[in-house]
Amino acid sequence: MEFNIAVLGGDGIGPEVTEQGVRALEAVGRAFGHTFNLSYGDIGGISIDKHGIPLTDETRALLDSDDAVLFGAVGGPKWDSPDAKVRPEMGLLDMRAHMGVFANIRPVKVYPWLAESSVFKPEVIDGVDMVVVRELTGGLYYAEPRGRHETPNGIVAEDTMRYTEGEIERVLRVGFELARGRRKKLASVDKANVLECSRLWRAVATRLGEEYSDVELEHVLVDACAMQLIQKPTSYDVIVAENTFGDILSDEASMLAASMGLLPSASVAGVPVSGQRSGGLYEPIHGTAPDIAGKGIANPTGSILSVALLVRYSLGLTEEGAAIERAVDKVLESNVRTADLVTAGNAHVSTIEMGDLIVAAIESGN
Ligand code: IPM
Ligand code: MN
Repeated sequence: MEFNIAVLGGDGIGPEVTEQGVRALEAVGRAFGHTFNLSYGDIGGISIDKHGIPLTDETRALLDSDDAVLFGAVGGPKWDSPDAKVRPEMGLLDMRAHMGVFANIRPVKVYPWLAESSVFKPEVIDGVDMVVVRELTGGLYYAEPRGRHETPNGIVAEDTMRYTEGEIERVLRVGFELARGRRKKLASVDKANVLECSRLWRAVATRLGEEYSDVELEHVLVDACAMQLIQKPTSYDVIVAENTFGDILSDEASMLAASMGLLPSASVAGVPVSGQRSGGLYEPIHGTAPDIAGKGIANPTGSILSVALLVRYSLGLTEEGAAIERAVDKVLESNVRTADLVTAGNAHVSTIEMGDLIVAAIESGN
């Protein structure tokens, strides 16, 4: 089959890791007989430098026309002035809103052979396998009013948290559907003891819980969830949270997996249906890591595993997604490590060498 994929590397280590993601995509194309037509575009700081804005109409057109988007990361100290009129992150937020990808799926899995690289005790993280579903196009990130104003009492800054019932229901539905295909447990995260948005969130979760009576629903306050993620992470299967809570909890959860560099994400506009095609945005959960950009030492695994999610959720290629994940398993199991994970007794490889090994494992049919 033939597919059109938009590739937006962005800033910092974004382009380096995305390049390895693209190589994994092409390897799976050769192994399974698919053609991927790639169109490259600018986003974030590089787009500000070249065009003055973080997301141009030209890049927007790619988002509209292609089957899926593979994205790297945006941002960096160069564009970070607090008074900046345009910011790289605005490009990412605009892209998410433009694509309507309201559910951000972040799987966190602990590889047994990486236990020695983790800051956690092996018995705490052994068997961790969870998915954080983060609401991505609402809440504090988008709702109005927002901004900074001069007042007689000094400067005031405001952001607004607002959610409609419909926005809450559609993202929780993604969580419930994912839970059905897994261990059938859903933790709905809120701050219902304080926030009105959270009380509506809890009411919607309770109503859906009756419809999905085969899924065990638990309501967890966000602060308690932050604690339990570290104390007993194996108790979680699917976690669903609003935008800001999900942003924070998913970074926290990523530490269970030893390195953020390993973790992929999928942002979708509906419940992914196995074997069906539907657009989506795929990116590693890490940022631009300006301190190591251009050194060739970043871990490309998060981007490569994002490609696995891309082919599975957006292109309907289930087998191909599994083949990429098996290749990553095989390479990590063979004790090969990028700088973020290396410990004594491992083979230390660069970004490109890690890509080479995973590509070879995909091509050999592992
Ligand atoms: C993420 C990032 C972004 C976010 C930033 C870069 C705007 O932290 O994808 O989690 O907060 O959503
Ligand atoms: Mn984040």
